[in-house]
Amino acid sequence: MPSRTPYVAANWKMHKTVAEAAEFVDALLPRIAATQSDVVICPGFTALAEVVERRRGTAVKVAAQNMHEEEWGAFTGEVSAPMLAELDVEAVILGHSERRQYFNETDEALARKVPAALAHDLEPILCVGESEAARDAEETDEVLERQLQTDLGGLEPDQIAGVVVAYEPIWAIGTGRTATPEQAQEACAFIRDVLRARGAAAGEVRILYGGSVKPANAAEILSQPDVDGALVGGAALDPGEFAAIVDAA
Ligand code: PGA
Repeated sequence: MPSRTPYVAANWKMHKTVAEAAEFVDALLPRIAATQSDVVICPGFTALAEVVERRRGTAVKVAAQNMHEEEWGAFTGEVSAPMLAELDVEAVILGHSERRQYFNETDEALARKVPAALAHDLEPILCVGESEAARDAEETDEVLERQLQTDLGGLEPDQIAGVVVAYEPIWAIGTGRTATPEQAQEACAFIRDVLRARGAAAGEVRILYGGSVKPANAAEILSQPDVDGALVGGAALDPGEFAAIVDAA
């Protein structure tokens, strides 16, 4: 099996001003200096440039939390791939459940956003995951398959290896209720199977788990064979806690 570099991303959501972002990066960098993992910080738009500058010369990558599928146009309030690439941002979260739920981000829009990101050398971190009702109805696989097939529908199989997929069960996000390591493994393995069936080099794709990852549960979740990293929300607001999760990877 090809070895996949662990990938740990801090999704700050709508937290941290520029000054707070700078403070976090300065506190984090010495704590993770020795890591072999890919470490990614996902600030809000206003702090992107500051985080890009502060981490220059380190291996830390910077990701935006959203992006419009068009390169330019009359889309008030939106930000495009060329705008992010110009800042030296390297990646972008797409399809986070909060964007799907509160901002009406659809699978059809994601089918255009994912190739748009790749066209500008932005690594998409594509989030997929089922609701509590879907899990209770034993429809998890169906939901994941539908999201992946549509969201990645615009890609050639060889482009899929450039996508990072984050499995984020909605019922585990910000709730303190984490998926068990077995549930995380099962869903991530299923996602890998779907990618393989699409003709992708699925063994190379990093598949992350997200949903109430904390220093106390990170090692067990990240030790699962198909879980290659974590997308961390609440625990990524504190540099010490986030560094402890990076250590666990
Ligand atoms: P959480 O968020 O770690 O606060 O549950 C994860 C996410 O939404 O990416």
